[in-house]
Amino acid sequence: DIKGFIFDLDGVIALTSKYHSQAWHQIADELDATWTKSLEDGLKGISRMDSLEMILKAGNKENDYTEEEKIKLAAKKNDNYLALIGNMNNDDLLPGIPEFLEDLMAHNYKICLASASKNSSIILKKLNLARYFPAVVDPSKLKKGKPDPEIYIRGAELLNLKPEECIGIEDAAAGIQSINGAGETSIGIGDTQELSAADILFSSTKDMTLANIEAAMKVNA
Ligand code: G6P
Ligand code: MG
Repeated sequence: DIKGFIFDLDGVIALTSKYHSQAWHQIADELDATWTKSLEDGLKGISRMDSLEMILKAGNKENDYTEEEKIKLAAKKNDNYLALIGNMNNDDLLPGIPEFLEDLMAHNYKICLASASKNSSIILKKLNLARYFPAVVDPSKLKKGKPDPEIYIRGAELLNLKPEECIGIEDAAAGIQSINGAGETSIGIGDTQELSAADILFSSTKDMTLANIEAAMKVNA
């Protein structure tokens, strides 16, 4: 039986995935690294330093910067990002999310956050959602980022649940891979092709209701 829900943040709870993309796009332009849709999609869910490595690699520049320069570039991206989320408000929430969280609480499901982002607590506070997430995986304590299963395994541990009792929710292919690798049920939010590995797929968070999830799990069983 499902007893817990483990959420990704950017692109699942809030539109912040868009701001991460814009902030990286600015860096890619400065580095003269080509920005493509597949690079943009591939960066979703990927930690800050791993994202920079992917951008450098895409531009064949992986050997052009020292470790110190890379740290500066990553810090600059984060400054870009913080500027972009400066004016964030409830319009940046994805549709139906507060209602879904309320419904999960009302049905006594355990809830956890499994975001790779070091900015997740700022975002949850800005959107008044912190009270739903007493359990948050600390990404700075992980050995490996998504697509490795570690973050979702840790999420189930924080909830004191077995992986098979958990559903993970993700907008990124790397995140779905992480959930599946952890042995949890995966819900993908977005595109069928990009998220083909998801157990259950919704094109929008507004379709993500307990009734729809239960129906989808029966079909898959
Ligand atoms: C999430 C986002 C990524 C971002 C990562 C690290 O997984 O989907 O786009 O790169 O978090 O975020 P941070 O805020 O720590 O740079
Ligand atoms: Mg995401």
